[in-house]
Amino acid sequence: MALYSDKVMDHFRNPRNVGVIEDANGVGEVGNPKCGDIMKIYLKIQDDTIADVKFETFGCGSAIASSSMATELIKGQPLSEALKLTNQAVTEALDGLPAHKIHCSVLAEEAIKKAVKDYYDRSGIAYDPADFPVFEDCDHCGE
Ligand code: FES
Repeated sequence: MALYSDKVMDHFRNPRNVGVIEDANGVGEVGNPKCGDIMKIYLKIQDDTIADVKFETFGCGSAIASSSMATELIKGQPLSEALKLTNQAVTEALDGLPAHKIHCSVLAEEAIKKAVKDYYDRSGIAYDPADFPVFEDCDHCGE
């Protein structure tokens, strides 16, 4: 069996939603100190819906494929659904990642949650910190 699924190769070669949203109202950046890879997610949230999402990822192929798939999964979705996105869901949608590349999909989940948290902070919307446990003690980005 090939190391990477066809879907991983497709999203790596033709990543969806690459770029910057200039008037984004939620931005989340995470980095993995071990590999040095960085992922940044831009959200345009309107009426509690992900109206648009783009990403910039400086990282491995799995991180790029994970970002691409994660943005596809949340685009047009209600905010509440975006918050439920897990790295397992991203990995499954990609038809799997090699075990040593699972952490790359974790970056996508974290970056999206961090961007939503940024939106809440900017908008003065109260939230339950328990929904963002990763950022209370983040061993990926050190924040
Ligand atoms: Fe660093 Fe994939 S090896 S995100």
